[in-house]
Amino acid sequence: MGAGGRDQWQSSIGFILATVGSAIGLGNIWRFPTVVAQSGGGAFVIVFLAAVLLVGIPAMIAELALGRQGRGGVVVTFQRIASKGPWRQAGKILLLVGFVMASYYGVIASWTLIYTVQGALGGLTGLDAVQLNIMFDSLVGNPVLAFLALAAFLGLVGLIVGGGVGGGIERASIILMPTVMILLLALFIRTMFLPGAWEGVLWFLRPDFSVMTPANVLGALGQVFFSFSLGMGAILTYGSYLSERENIPRAALWISGADVVVALLAGLTVIPALFAFNLDPQVGAGLVFVALPGIFNTMPLAGLWMTLFFALLAFAALTSAVSMLEVVTAYLIDKRRWPRRRATLTATAAAFAAGLPITLSQGNLNALRIGGVDLLTAVDFFASNLLLPVGGLVTVLFVGWVWGAHRAADEVTRGAVTFPSAPAWSFTVRYVLPAILIYVLVTGLTG
Ligand code: TRP
Repeated sequence: MGAGGRDQWQSSIGFILATVGSAIGLGNIWRFPTVVAQSGGGAFVIVFLAAVLLVGIPAMIAELALGRQGRGGVVVTFQRIASKGPWRQAGKILLLVGFVMASYYGVIASWTLIYTVQGALGGLTGLDAVQLNIMFDSLVGNPVLAFLALAAFLGLVGLIVGGGVGGGIERASIILMPTVMILLLALFIRTMFLPGAWEGVLWFLRPDFSVMTPANVLGALGQVFFSFSLGMGAILTYGSYLSERENIPRAALWISGADVVVALLAGLTVIPALFAFNLDPQVGAGLVFVALPGIFNTMPLAGLWMTLFFALLAFAALTSAVSMLEVVTAYLIDKRRWPRRRATLTATAAAFAAGLPITLSQGNLNALRIGGVDLLTAVDFFASNLLLPVGGLVTVLFVGWVWGAHRAADEVTRGAVTFPSAPAWSFTVRYVLPAILIYVLVTGLTG
């Protein structure tokens, strides 16, 4: 506990690993390779890296600084900094985004749990692509299994969040994040020994700008936002537990660096594996649950590699989901003055209640359609095309114009930290980020 009885990180490295844990998730290991494959390879990677520097890092610094200044969950922070007017209530938008994200992210994450167990029991070994496809539908479409997996996953998330900032979130991240990196490195090295893998590496690295379309650039921007956990107050909430001595720009560089390295490593593992087996890199969402198990099945020790891979996904997703649930939990603690236990229980139960129809939409509730698609697809679209850009826009407009970029830059330099790029950063927060987010929002919604 820090001053005023509010939770604080116990160490700088603990804070960095927890935030890295939020950033590294399904977005890096599943979504990134998928988008790279669908958007033409190397050129997309370069645009993604440019977007990291131009958009991702400045936005992350903004969220961390806002959180540290606000010293509260999303709702309290906006109310403390905006003295009057509608901006006082704008944090509630982030709360909503955090809640929706937690429930739908938890659904996909709970499948990784099913697959870890199924892989360990040998239930995926020896199956070909067609059988794996049928297996996927029957596993995620099984209402009892879906119910239990979601309960188990959110239960784990709740246990970690309930343990508090230092004792729960920080401690879990210190254990889980290095594990994730070691598992990924092992899989990467294994893939490099597959005959034909090298072609995939080249495809991943070779920039062919003729395949870059405006839609791909948009995809890169969206991927940075998603991967950096921006736009829903998760990074803001983590920033609110920071000490004044922490060097925010340096931390943001470390966190983004780790996130980018893991995304690249995942891409360099998944895509070469596809090449080695002559699979179309454009397989899309079936990549993780169908194509990869198929590849593992051709290796000696298939069950072992499969289990390691799904455990890696589950761990990465766990620390991300923790940051989403913490947004809601911190709100209940800071605004409603609830004890952490009660706040965590309520947030977990609410995420479960919202996630249940979403996960059941893959089976019994499949008939429930919104705009012609099932509930999971609809919520996914709504979250990535509307909620996250809106949440991001609210945050950067607030930092740049309501709180003020200059005051924000002062906050960053509080602990005798030098921030030589402060002028460029202020300009980015006031003009560049809002313009880009409005562009993302308008194009994302109009298609
Ligand atoms: N960054 C995580 C990933 O890559 C997902 C995530 C966690 C997230 N918190 C978020 C995405 C907040 C958007 C907003 O999987």
